[in-house]
Amino acid sequence: MMHKITIKNRDNITYEVDHRKPLLDSLKAKGVDLPYGCKYGGCITCAAKLINGRVNQTAQVALNNRQLNNGYVILCVARPVTDCTFEIGVESHDLLYRNPFTDPLEDHELKADIATPLENRK
Ligand code: FES
Repeated sequence: MMHKITIKNRDNITYEVDHRKPLLDSLKAKGVDLPYGCKYGGCITCAAKLINGRVNQTAQVALNNRQLNNGYVILCVARPVTDCTFEIGVESHDLLYRNPFTDPLEDHELKADIATPLENRK
């Protein structure tokens, strides 16, 4: 099955991609310039922000719950489940990292925020 992937911060350009392939591979094959490192879901370099749509990224281990709740997707392992709109590249990373000086952790947040399996999240 093919899904439409729209890149919001590239003039809403749209690509048709195969739902079986990781988004990073599909978009790179179309000539989209994307940052990446490990290509197995562990380093976070390829993170992009999902604006609309759904993906399957159960193989990712780089994102914590806060990052998942902010819409981040690990493109090297994520496959589209529906048509999707993304912001890509470092411009999309504004909410990816938390600044400990402007936004310090509360006491209850000091333990690791490990991603919980999708079925256990609200
Ligand atoms: S390239 Fe490392 S997590 Fe995707």
